[in-house]
Amino acid sequence: MSPALASSLLPLLRLMDAERAHGIALAALRLGLAGADRTADDPRLSMHAFGRDFRNPIGLAAGFDKDAVALAPLMRLGFGFVEAGTVTPRPQAGNPRPRMFRLLEDDAVINRLGFNNGGLDLYVRRLAAVRRKIPVGANVGVNKEGAVPERDYPALVAAVARCADYVTINVSSPNTPGLRALQGADRLAAILAAVRQEVASPPPLLIKLAPDLHDEELPGVVAACVEGGAAGLIVSNTTTARPAGLRSRNAAQAGGLSGAPLFSPSTAMLARVARLAAGRLVLVGVGGVFTGRQVLQKIRAGATLVQVYTGFALEGPALIPRLKRELLAALERDGFASAAAAVGADLKD
Ligand SMILES: Cc1cc2nc3c(=O)[nH]c(=O)nc-3n(C[C@H](O)[C@H](O)[C@H](O)COP(=O)(O)O)c2cc1C
Repeated sequence: MSPALASSLLPLLRLMDAERAHGIALAALRLGLAGADRTADDPRLSMHAFGRDFRNPIGLAAGFDKDAVALAPLMRLGFGFVEAGTVTPRPQAGNPRPRMFRLLEDDAVINRLGFNNGGLDLYVRRLAAVRRKIPVGANVGVNKEGAVPERDYPALVAAVARCADYVTINVSSPNTPGLRALQGADRLAAILAAVRQEVASPPPLLIKLAPDLHDEELPGVVAACVEGGAAGLIVSNTTTARPAGLRSRNAAQAGGLSGAPLFSPSTAMLARVARLAAGRLVLVGVGGVFTGRQVLQKIRAGATLVQVYTGFALEGPALIPRLKRELLAALERDGFASAAAAVGADLKD
């Protein structure tokens, strides 16, 4: 089946509960039913970041393949990189269902999954078995019960170190009580110091931030990440805010909002973080991307890499070749010789 055909079947999945539909989509991927994008990427899309080459800057964001069960088929869809997780040290059931809701009128999703996953041991076994044809990131988090972040994050990083091209330290899910307090500059510094002390040569470390951080908090966060030796930041996770104008009846559900309403706030935060980081951190932009023009907006705001989740979940595998075509057209229209040449272009004056 081609990615276009797979995408055309998605409306059927929309008839059922969002989490069930997600399970079926993952199963279909594992069976090879989503097809492959075999076209070679235009060299103008290639990027280089934290010692790795990316054939294009568009990656799959964390949460789609929490247990690393479908990485090989996901790698065939034309992404430049994929991120698996969030994985926690011990398996965890997550919150009671229903806990994932489509907001179709808003091109958005609200989830309060709560880090449901099969735990680190299984995850590492699966990740280690994958041939990494493109860079693979491992996204790690702590359990809801009994977490000791300065102990758990180093152990998580050590466990995935040899089977990931980078590790994302997730301190920004809204669905694990207390997690987002770890975004405080002191806590981040302590976690990064603990990782450096416990793990001899860790892979590049990225810290994933919430879009709900206040502007006043950002300088401290960026300084802690630079000084703590992080390679970069992912901006951003889902938001607990409910922007005015949401139309779906599911808008009142508790949890993190992703998709179209997140594009503006997450891109604005990305630009603020880029100014503060001043080239010292690699930035990954994520939030509300549905078009190649929006990929370019994130790149111009300072992102070297851009991830998608909700757009991919709603549109399916045909999104990826479309984003790449549209990104090339947008680069040409804006007069950039390559995607790399556009990184941070909006910050320069
Ligand atoms: C159902 C769902 C589950 C998610 N799970 C995770 C997760 O486990 N870890 C994580 O770092 N982000 C998770 N995210 C956040 C996404 O990776 C991404 O940061 C966010 O959805 C914004 O991007 P988007 O607007 O393209 O979806 C999840 C998002 C959704 C919609």
